[in-house]
Amino acid sequence: MIEETAWAKLNLALHVRARRDDGYHALETLFVFARHGDQIALTPAEADSFTIVGPFADSLTGEDDNLVTRARDLFRERFGLRGAVAITLDKQLPVASGIGGGSADAAATLRGLAAMHMVDMGDPRLIDCAERLGSDVPACLRSMTALGQGRGETLSALAGMPGTPVLLVNPGVALSTGQVFDGWDGIDRGPIGKGDLISRAVQARNDLEKPAIALAPVIADVLSLLERQPGARLVRMSGSGATCFALFDSAQACADAASVVSAAHPDWWLLESELL
Ligand code: C5P
Repeated sequence: MIEETAWAKLNLALHVRARRDDGYHALETLFVFARHGDQIALTPAEADSFTIVGPFADSLTGEDDNLVTRARDLFRERFGLRGAVAITLDKQLPVASGIGGGSADAAATLRGLAAMHMVDMGDPRLIDCAERLGSDVPACLRSMTALGQGRGETLSALAGMPGTPVLLVNPGVALSTGQVFDGWDGIDRGPIGKGDLISRAVQARNDLEKPAIALAPVIADVLSLLERQPGARLVRMSGSGATCFALFDSAQACADAASVVSAAHPDWWLLESELL
């Protein structure tokens, strides 16, 4: 059996630069990953199967359009393979929440199949599969700190901040990525600046916060509560939302903030983690 973690993706910043003719948006984003995620287990089998378990299993319906089974099928097609595989997805993180979700699951499936069939991680066919599965899948395939450009698939590695404590908070609303992008006001506010990762991130923004808040006003409450927490170095929404996060100076400050947030909003989903 091969096990892979679908590390949660966070966008420390996301600048939307232009609407493209193909329906996507040209963007610049700072990708980082947290040390928590869904778990994928793959075992060679007589027949294909796909089982979803875990706290957020019920949020997913049918397997026809699941990115995990699409990743499996695309990988086999691209590499000319036939063998069946039993896949179990342990869904630990909320779906449609701006932290990778299906993209990270698809990327973990590709990594697992690559390991099973001794495919090199740099194989252009593997990267092609990732690009076809979604804009964030190439970043999730590597799960490394990177600047993403194009629709998010063009990556340049950056020095990360491993071990930085991070608190993730989701107020329990699922947002459609396409709908949030559709609400972008069309104003290019410029590129992400230069410097080290944290100063670039602090000076940058997430241009999708405004359209996401228009769809789910509670996101503004999450951001302002996180901003009031002592030791929070950077507070932002991730991707198209609704998950927001705060980076902290210390694990203690992160734990203290988690206590305050969970006491005030016992219904919100919280995760204390650290950057990879
Ligand atoms: O690439 P992916 O399938 O994950 O994207 C989901 C949707 O998000 C797209 O159909 C598109 O509406 C929107 N999107 C976008 N620009 C991007 C990435 C995603 O408009 N760079």
